[in-house]
Parts: sequence; C-alpha cells; structure tokens
Amino acid sequence: MSDPYLTITVFRDERVLARTLAERIASTVGENPRQVLGLATGRTPVRLYHELGALHARGRADFSHVTTFNLDEFWGLPPSDPGSYRTFMTEHLFRRTGIRPEQVNFLNGSAPDADAECARYDDAIAGAGGIDLQILGIGTNGHIGLNEPGRDLASRTHRVALKASTRRSNAALFGGDVDRVPKEALSMGMGSILRARRLVLIATGKSKAKCVERLVHGPITTKLPASFLQLHGAVEILLDEPAAQLGVRGLHG
Ligand code: F6R
Repeated sequence: MSDPYLTITVFRDERVLARTLAERIASTVGENPRQVLGLATGRTPVRLYHELGALHARGRADFSHVTTFNLDEFWGLPPSDPGSYRTFMTEHLFRRTGIRPEQVNFLNGSAPDADAECARYDDAIAGAGGIDLQILGIGTNGHIGLNEPGRDLASRTHRVALKASTRRSNAALFGGDVDRVPKEALSMGMGSILRARRLVLIATGKSKAKCVERLVHGPITTKLPASFLQLHGAVEILLDEPAAQLGVRGLHG
C-alpha cells in the first residue's frame, strides 16, 4: 500500500487479528496508562475485547487508568436495558478488564434532551483531551459509528435515524426481533471521529469486502461515510482475508 496515511494489514484470520491488536493496545496503554480510547460495539470487536480481558486476567495489561468513550447508543433505551450498547460493552469489555466505571463515558439513550446530551458528550471528549485511539467497525452500508449514508453527514455528535439494514444487523441484541430495535440512536459525528489522533478500523468476513474496497479505492462521498477516513492522517485498517478479497492489498499481519 503506497498511501502513507492509510495502512492496511491483512491477517490470516480474525483470531490472529484480534490477538495482535489486543497486544498492541495493551502495550500502548502500558506506555501511556492514561490513554483515552474510543470504542465501537458490534460483532467485529468482540474477539478483541475478549483478548483484552484475557491479557488483563493474566496480569499482562492494566487498564485501571484508561478513559473510554463509546461511539453510539440507541435512543430511547436506559443504560441498564439488556439491549443497550452500554450493557453490551459491560459484558464484553468493561467487566473483563477492570476499566473503572467512573472512567467509562457513554451517550445516555434515555437523557431528557437529545441535543443537550450530544453537546454534553462532545464537551466531555474535549474535556478529556480528545481521543487518542479510536477503534472502529464498518457497516456493510459503509456507516461509521451510526453515521448512516445519505445526502449529508453531521460533524458533531447527533441524533440519527437508523437504516433498516442497521436495525436488522442489531436484532441479535433484542432476541432476534428487529421490531424491538430502536429506530433512532445518538452517535458521534464524522468530525468527532476524525478528530481522534489515531483510527484503527477492523473489518472481518466477506460481507465487509465490498464496503472495504469502496472505502480504500472509492471517492470520498456521504454515500459511504467510511470514505471520509481517507481524510485522516493516521488510519490503520485491519482485515481478515475474506474482508480483503475484492482487490484490497496490504501488509501481511
Ligand atoms: C457500533 C458501530 C458500528 C459497527 C458496524 C459494524 O458502535 O460503531 O459502526 O461498527 O455496524 O457492526 P458489526 O461489527 O456487527 O458488523
């Protein structure tokens, strides 16, 4: 890959990818224990989060000084709802890694006023000194966080209407019942995401091959929010072989 700002690494499989990234995050946190981490939910980072939990359990990583900000949350759900992204993160990462609850930042899907909640979140990120390392997944429709494709994109944290495909891919959190998936969410905006110092996007499986190919080789367009990552100076894309199968080349991980 000749682009110095966007490096791509292709791993043999998603287990190796997750393990390698977990080791790297642990060593970054070892060097700078007060890292501010931006986190994503979804199926893709689950292995990574479990690997981080395993490193913590073996005494090989200390996350007690880390601050976290998650990208998004369903609108209309209290944090304790079993389908909330907060519950997902508690289950897959926070309770496994000793990340202190008072250092965890989340959008509150049951806040009285969505706009005020979004402004509070942007202020909280700025107050923490910005995000050092943002972990991202990508939707098959090219969304990043829950910035859905459309005619325009919001820069700051905002309330979003979820596409039908996004609601379907979140149905597992609601017992497989797509009708129970909220129709709206709060999400960090593309500007908020692009302000992170480093971005690491993970994509695995052949269902991601098309959007990854468009992200890497296509034009920058609001029809594929992920394409805006091309504007960032320090993006790493970590793929397994199926996600790289449509002509995306990278280093071997
Ligand atoms: C959710 C988020 C989304 C997901 C994307 C991929 O916090 O940031 O952009 O990363 O929907 O989801 P999975 O990993 O389930 O394919």
